Amino acid sequence: MTTLENRTALVTGANRGVGQAYVAGLLDRGVARIYAAARTLDTLSETVDLDPARVVPLKLDVTDRAQIAAAVAAAADVTLLINNAGSLTFGGALDVSEDGLNRDMAVNNDGLREVTRAFAPVIEGNGGGAFVNMLTLLSFVSAPGFSGYNASKAAAWSMSMSLRAYLRPRGIDVVNVFPAGIDTDMLAGVDAPKDSPQDVVRDVLDGLVAGEEDIYPASAADVFKAWRADQKAVEAMFAGMM
Ligand SMILES: NC(=O)c1ccc[n+]([C@@H]2O[C@H](COP(=O)([O-])OP(=O)(O)OC[C@H]3O[C@@H](n4cnc5c(N)ncnc54)[C@H](OP(=O)(O)O)[C@@H]3O)[C@@H](O)[C@H]2O)c1
Repeated sequence: MTTLENRTALVTGANRGVGQAYVAGLLDRGVARIYAAARTLDTLSETVDLDPARVVPLKLDVTDRAQIAAAVAAAADVTLLINNAGSLTFGGALDVSEDGLNRDMAVNNDGLREVTRAFAPVIEGNGGGAFVNMLTLLSFVSAPGFSGYNASKAAAWSMSMSLRAYLRPRGIDVVNVFPAGIDTDMLAGVDAPKDSPQDVVRDVLDGLVAGEEDIYPASAADVFKAWRADQKAVEAMFAGMM
């Protein structure tokens, strides 16, 4: 995707955190229309610039197939879809709740897959475009205290690579994003280095227009470099963060 200007984008989980930063970043880059999708629309105007000319609120719980179908009908001009909605349940592999495990998988893997399956024909029909999938470095190296989240994001990474192979011939790129920690509600209370959502979004949008298909934004670039040099050393470092 060489330019974002005049595109129509949809961002899931647009009401806070990285999703909120995506809406602002896409507006800055000249995107013509943005569907700001969120589970609840009541408070969207408190966090997102609902510029009536360019931003369209859209109700979307990514685990609800009926809402996904309604979103497809309402947003038939999309060519860039940011699969951003995410869920993180705290807990180690031996003690995490089953509800938490199921929720993280339902949102992070199943939701991403179902939104992609539903919108692929839309994007193809509009002449092609891209899905941007918010994965994490934890897709390939586990933080033991986030066991369900790691597993769901590893599944989503695998699913994204499969989707990429099927969608590329249809003129649709699948761009996978692997951030390090980001300073949002998701990691509130976790004492760790964190990038700003704005820096992450800047690097993702730069990578997207540069044609990168795997993006390691902000401080994730250094962690990825270290992981490529010595995977076991990075695994041991993360294992120490229980
Ligand atoms: N924060 C980090 O350190 C970090 C690092 C790497 C990757 N990521 C990924 O970046 C993405 C954004 O994370 P964030 O830090 O902005 O998280 P966040 O602050 O916890 O926000 C999560 C967003 O996802 C939405 N969401 C959750 N379940 C949903 C569902 N079933 N349907 C639709 N929306 C749903 C939330 O909506 P509600 O307000 O309705 O709950 C909220 O808008 C996620 O995919 C996350 O895994 C985050």
